[in-house]
Amino acid sequence: MKTKNKIHPWEITSESVYLDRRQFLLAAGLATAAGMTSLALPGQLMAATGDLESVQGPYSTDEPPNSWKDITTYNNFYEFGTAKDDPYDNAQEFRSQPWTVKVSGECDKPGEYHFEDIIGPHTLEDRVYRHRCVEAWSMVVPWVGIPLGDLLKRFDPNSDAKFVRFKTLHDPEQMPGQRRPVLRWPYVEGLTIAEAMHPLTLMVVGVYGKTLPNQNGAPLRLITPWKYGFKGIKSIVEIEFTSRQPHTSWEIANSREYGFYANVNPEVDHPRWSQARERRIGAGVFDEKQPTLMFNGYAEEVAELYAGLDLRKNY
Ligand code: MTE
Repeated sequence: MKTKNKIHPWEITSESVYLDRRQFLLAAGLATAAGMTSLALPGQLMAATGDLESVQGPYSTDEPPNSWKDITTYNNFYEFGTAKDDPYDNAQEFRSQPWTVKVSGECDKPGEYHFEDIIGPHTLEDRVYRHRCVEAWSMVVPWVGIPLGDLLKRFDPNSDAKFVRFKTLHDPEQMPGQRRPVLRWPYVEGLTIAEAMHPLTLMVVGVYGKTLPNQNGAPLRLITPWKYGFKGIKSIVEIEFTSRQPHTSWEIANSREYGFYANVNPEVDHPRWSQARERRIGAGVFDEKQPTLMFNGYAEEVAELYAGLDLRKNY
């Protein structure tokens, strides 16, 4: 990873400072807790003071999180370029507000929802999750989000809703990577309805108690921590409930290498490299790779979703 001198010192949150103040409320949660009627945006994130209840979510790992700098300068967001530092370099001017999300398909409450309506009624939670990329590197990220199932239930999915399909914004003017056919645009992803409703799955709006930076998928992106990072579709503008398994961007690009499920699995190699071990970003150049855990360490929570499924065929 290249070292950047463009990062302001205040942007580099040290892990110890974060862990000390890990209990914070997002403004939306605060407004609900305090009985206020104002609708607050995550741009107005507030650090908790001693007299406030915590909304720290369940399921957090106790592994130390990566730094703000690691998380926000080393990632994939091909709409802004294919190099790991391109998203940081090219997404700064991206307009993530105002934002609307189209909800459609097998549900009783389809429509165009403003970002504020989507996050407004929910209490946001902070959750420290392991994040494992298919390229065999990993991080630990303190995301802030809404359990996706809580959000989806508001649209009253019907009994034909077997899958959920997500779509990223298509706007080549703002997203220079979309001017080249690196992938078929717009980026699309999907989950089974059971995966989408699983309490580990988050619709993320922030990281480290701050609004999600553009390069990490502002203003709304998906996180399914037991799956490879490419399932975490960014800058979502459409949510569709479908009866059939949707196609996903990486499957369309190369179905031999990337499947629909994409569960982290040390026993199933990527055709071009092993998935048995991973390199934790920021652990130091001489650090050994560490063994990858089945379902990224979340097997106890999610293995039952795949009971009876051949995970070698359904990769
Ligand atoms: N979403 C969109 N729209 N476009 C992308 O190129 N890349 C994916 C995923 N979501 C991508 C995307 C991949 S390959 C990874 S590893 C994660 O985003 C990485 O981003 P993060 O580190 O911010 O989670």
